[in-house]
Amino acid sequence: MNELKDLFEKGRWYHCFRYEGLISNGTYDVADYVEHYGFDKDYSGKAVLDVGCSDGFFSIWMKEHGADRVLGVDSNKYDGSLAFSPSIAFKQNHQEKYAQYANDYDVFRSLYEKYGLKNSNKLLFMTKLMDLNVEFSNGSIYDLSSYGEFDVVMCNDLLEHLRDPITAIEQLYLATKEKCIITVSSAYKPDLFNRKKALALFQGHISGGSFFSLSEEAVKAMCMSAGFRKTKIVGRFEMINKRYSVNNSHFVIHAYK
Ligand SMILES: C[S@@+](CC[C@H](N)C(=O)[O-])C[C@H]1O[C@@H](n2cnc3c(N)ncnc32)[C@H](O)[C@@H]1O
Repeated sequence: MNELKDLFEKGRWYHCFRYEGLISNGTYDVADYVEHYGFDKDYSGKAVLDVGCSDGFFSIWMKEHGADRVLGVDSNKYDGSLAFSPSIAFKQNHQEKYAQYANDYDVFRSLYEKYGLKNSNKLLFMTKLMDLNVEFSNGSIYDLSSYGEFDVVMCNDLLEHLRDPITAIEQLYLATKEKCIITVSSAYKPDLFNRKKALALFQGHISGGSFFSLSEEAVKAMCMSAGFRKTKIVGRFEMINKRYSVNNSHFVIHAYK
């Protein structure tokens, strides 16, 4: 139990998970904001794809709310290697950040090995701990073709980190049977969100990891140009980044096939 407590309190977490009185030391406590995502109460009978799942809070939430099948996909190998392609000037910063995944594995190796894990993938760790059947695949939003179609596809807080959000949304469209849930965040230009223009503001020179601030209208227009028949903004909220104590603006779009 002490080792588990240590992992929850001192490990490298993106999401806060609650388990038997413990809360993981994540950057985002998404449970506090889940009402803003416009989720259904029950996902029984549905297959759900969670693209850019990170530690898997949303994948696990969907499984706990009845989904028949949940697949989380992330380009992170959780082994210390860089998960995405940042601006060149910021590459070293991001390499150092991602190295924390290898460090986390080294420190808590015996616990990970107990669950048969060879890296610090928290989605797999949590699903083994909680005995939930959630699948994970290391892969990219730029090629979802091998995964097939899912009733519900989610892509939360990823578009702004991509060099090419248009191709990404086209891939989400191809993977979606019914509905795609897209959340977009901005740390830098929240005022852009409510503008009634399809604006994409480049900001790759600020951190090298967030390329564009996308307005609501821009993401809606990208969804429509990918083939979705209807889009709806279902939520707007601020979510606190607990590591840096700053609020990030978010909006949630549901795109219907
Ligand atoms: C900001 S986190 C968001 C995590 C989670 N979806 C959420 O909303 O809390 C973005 C995630 O997308 C992953 N990612 C970055 N580029 C990706 C790509 N091209 N394909 C799939 N995942 C990617 C990162 O490794 C990271 O786990």
